[in-house]
Amino acid sequence: SLARVVLGIETSCDDTGAAVVDETGQVLGEALCSQKEVHLKTGGIVPTVAQQLHRESIDGVVHDALSASGISPEELTAIATTVKPGLGLSLKVGLAYGVKMVNQYKKPFIPIHHMEAHALTIRLTNPVEFPFLVLLISGGHCMLVVARGVSDYLMLGQSLDEAPGDTLDKAARRLYLVRHPECSTMSGGQAIEHLAQHGSRLHTEGFNLPMAHYPDCNFSFSGMRAHINRLILQKEKEEGLQEDQLLCCAADIAATVQHLVTLHIVKRTHRAILFCKKEGLLPPKNASLVVSGGVASNQYIRRALRTLTDATEFTLLCPPSRLCTDNGIMIAWNGIERLRAGLEILHTVEGFRYMTK
Ligand code: KG4
Ligand code: ZN
Repeated sequence: SLARVVLGIETSCDDTGAAVVDETGQVLGEALCSQKEVHLKTGGIVPTVAQQLHRESIDGVVHDALSASGISPEELTAIATTVKPGLGLSLKVGLAYGVKMVNQYKKPFIPIHHMEAHALTIRLTNPVEFPFLVLLISGGHCMLVVARGVSDYLMLGQSLDEAPGDTLDKAARRLYLVRHPECSTMSGGQAIEHLAQHGSRLHTEGFNLPMAHYPDCNFSFSGMRAHINRLILQKEKEEGLQEDQLLCCAADIAATVQHLVTLHIVKRTHRAILFCKKEGLLPPKNASLVVSGGVASNQYIRRALRTLTDATEFTLLCPPSRLCTDNGIMIAWNGIERLRAGLEILHTVEGFRYMTK
């Protein structure tokens, strides 16, 4: 019989994604439509705008993924769609579309938790067994969890305020990096990484890393953002710099904020590793740290995490960058994982109707 095949639909934030993945992890077809350029111009995501853009692209994206796969909707085993968490208005578009297809083709529905999908993506490319430690860092997420099974997670910590990608995006905005000739089309985090290569860190004496005395694995980034804003203000005042002249010291500020974000991420992850060892939550040998989310594509952060995993005898695993950020493949793959684990799938989508109205 034909291997099981799942269509995945993702619209939780600002990417419209769809993909067809089979039981062996082969990606048969995928399509992705990013709204990043639009949101870069407005300096952040306006939910109603995001919803409108999802509405405009969802049909084309799903069709492209299906036709690239050569699989007809009738041949699908099930349809998986992100149902939470995310922007309500954005989620609704993918969910309404998934539910419409489920009813039209009489297919089972697999509701997907976006964070579960991020955590499982690594198993599409690396044969890593449960349990493993996951660090999710993006513009909207920041958490440390132990993945114990396809739908079994132990939350160790999360950000008490903003996510690190958000901190980097806000710093990039404060530095007007969209006007920088080299960075105009980059996300905030990419722009910071790019500029930081040519910068030298400013002194940050007097700034203590957040939560140093909290014996947990939570994060906090708002303090360091305030600190970075103070540094920028100081530059503006002391050196009499105007808005557009800030670009000349942007590299040094970028190097500074990237370094502070990295230090904090590494320290909290180190706490999580020690906690897992103490409690015996992971295998005593060859335990893995999986790092995913848009911020995980940052090479400076990856190098720092590599030093940590080398020192603690963990294996560092990162999905390829295009799978770290939001996409349809991870949703379809999560659907396959749920099918393979024999988890319940829905043969009626009644319960989700309220979310589509
Ligand atoms: O996973 P993602 O595409 O969307 C969510 O936030 O869910 O991640 C986007 C975030 C943005 O904040 C962006 O600035 C950040 O990831 N990012 C980076 C890099 N590339 C993207 N941050 C640091 N370094 C990068 N190279
Ligand atoms: Zn995400």
